[in-house]
Amino acid sequence: MIDISSGHAALDAFLAGHYLRIRGMSSRFAAAICGHIMRRQTALGITGDLLEIGTFEGRFFIAMAMLLAPDEHGVGIDVFTWPSARVYDHFLANCADAGLDAHSYTAWKTDTRTITADDLRAKLPAGAARFVHVDGEHNVECLTQDLELAHAVLHPDGVIVIDDMLHPGYPTLVTTVLDYLARHPEMRVLCIIDRESITAAAKFVLCRVDRVASYEQDLMTTFAKFHYVLGAYVTGYLTLVLTPDPTLPKVD
Ligand SMILES: C[S@@+](CC[C@H](N)C(=O)[O-])C[C@H]1O[C@@H](n2cnc3c(N)ncnc32)[C@H](O)[C@@H]1O
Repeated sequence: MIDISSGHAALDAFLAGHYLRIRGMSSRFAAAICGHIMRRQTALGITGDLLEIGTFEGRFFIAMAMLLAPDEHGVGIDVFTWPSARVYDHFLANCADAGLDAHSYTAWKTDTRTITADDLRAKLPAGAARFVHVDGEHNVECLTQDLELAHAVLHPDGVIVIDDMLHPGYPTLVTTVLDYLARHPEMRVLCIIDRESITAAAKFVLCRVDRVASYEQDLMTTFAKFHYVLGAYVTGYLTLVLTPDPTLPKVD
């Protein structure tokens, strides 16, 4: 198991055991880094809600909800029909098993193609989300809609995390993100969190260009042993890459 800590004892304990027993597709590596990002937001005084599009049985949602303050709220959106209608009951049961207060989150059974940004904002008691995980349907139509919904409700200091980037099963999905970034030049990729396996795939972490400094150095320092020092160029700027194995090839 990768030796990584979010810095939050209860979350680390959850990630070491319960997390991987909940069916889902997000890696423990990414959850630890994202948990740290939520801790960092709290330390910086950034308050707001949690939003996940594509909640499935709640693995990643529950992990991030553990970092919410008592007056913040989690909203998990899913059609909750795949692979069967039982997924909704599994989600609720997993939240209860993990000790999430039923009043601290909303399970919204809906198709994101049918909702507007105003509908979504109305579900967020803070009116904005400081942390958004986009992990719904992986096609151009849905990801475009999901990114626009996320963008519309994002706290100015918040982050949007997108799952399954650079996944061999969705090789062109990244083009939808590049199109989103072209429409919203105020946003950029803050960090690429590399995969653990083909299903526990890479995530992109996005934030506003003018907020990069408040996260980047902190991530680089906290996760120094996972820092791939060559980074990645994304549309003209160098982006931080964190990977379970940052070993560089020998070239001399
Ligand atoms: C890959 S799973 C999410 C995994 C989960 N986030 C995790 O980390 O374990 C994708 C989810 O997106 C949901 N989904 C697909 N299309 C959707 C849509 N249009 N609106 C809402 N949810 C959708 C599916 O039902 C499925 O549960």
